Formats: sequence, C-alpha cells, structure tokens
Amino acid sequence: MKMNKLVALLALPLALSAMAAQAGDGKVLYGEKTCNACHGPEGKKALMPQYPKLAGQNEAYLIVQMKDIKSGKRANGDTAAMKGVMHLVNDQDMKDIAVYLSKVKP
Ligand code: HEC
Repeated sequence: MKMNKLVALLALPLALSAMAAQAGDGKVLYGEKTCNACHGPEGKKALMPQYPKLAGQNEAYLIVQMKDIKSGKRANGDTAAMKGVMHLVNDQDMKDIAVYLSKVKP
C-alpha cells in the first residue's frame, strides 16, 4: 500500500538518527545523518550540479557553513533543502564530519 511506504519513508530519518554513532566517527555520521544523499559518497559527487562537493574542503570552513545553514544565517541558493536535516546533527557531530571530509582526497 502507498500509505505504508510513506510511513516507512517518514520514519527513516528517525531510525537513522536513533542508530548509535561511534563517538567521533565523522565518516559514520556522514552516512547516518543522510549527508551522502545530496553530497554523494565521501562528498565527491553531488546529487545536483548546483549542490557543492565537500571532499577535501577546509575543516574550519565546513564547520562555519554547517552552523550557518543550521541557524538560518546562510539562506542562499538551495540551503533550504539541507536545513531540513540539520536538526539531526549537533555541534560535535558537525565538527566530526568536518574533520572527516577535510581529510578525503577530492
Ligand atoms: C537535501 C540535500 C542535502 C542534504 C541531506 C545535506 N545537504 Fe549540505 N548542502 C546542500 C545544498 C543544496 C547546499 C548548497 C546550498 C546553497 O545553495 O548555498 C549544501 C551545502 C553544504 C555545505 C556548504 C558547502 C560550501 O561549499 O559552502 C556543507 C559543509 C554541507 N552542505 C554539509 C552537509 C552535511 C555535513 C550534511 C549532513 C548532516 C548535509 N550537508 C546534508 C544539500 C544537502
């Protein structure tokens, strides 16, 4: 039934956020928090050409952008698409993910 599929789809982010992440594992968090859906595996191939690649970007820059998108301070282009998932990550998660992405070879 269509309705069941919808319910399953809506429950997915909850199930994902409930899965315990290993503390400090940005790579695991990057997948669990659905970042890969839009920014691609390892942040190398974005879903849409107007979405940014993240692999190899500077850690400090990544953190600022994530915080600004979460708070709404950065609200340009397609940030609205991403803002919807940012309740899934706290400050520590953002830092861990930034450390991971900054070390991926672009
Ligand atoms: C629904 C799609 C979507 C999801 C899911 C998503 N993002 Fe994004 N993200 C975007 C888009 C689109 C932009 C560019 C916004 C703009 O146009 O300014 C962006 C921008 C960014 C930027 C800024 C990049 C730059 O070069 O300025 C970072 C960092 C980022 N995302 C990290 C993440 C992380 C980490 C996650 C997971 C917690 C995530 N994103 C989940 C769509 C998404």
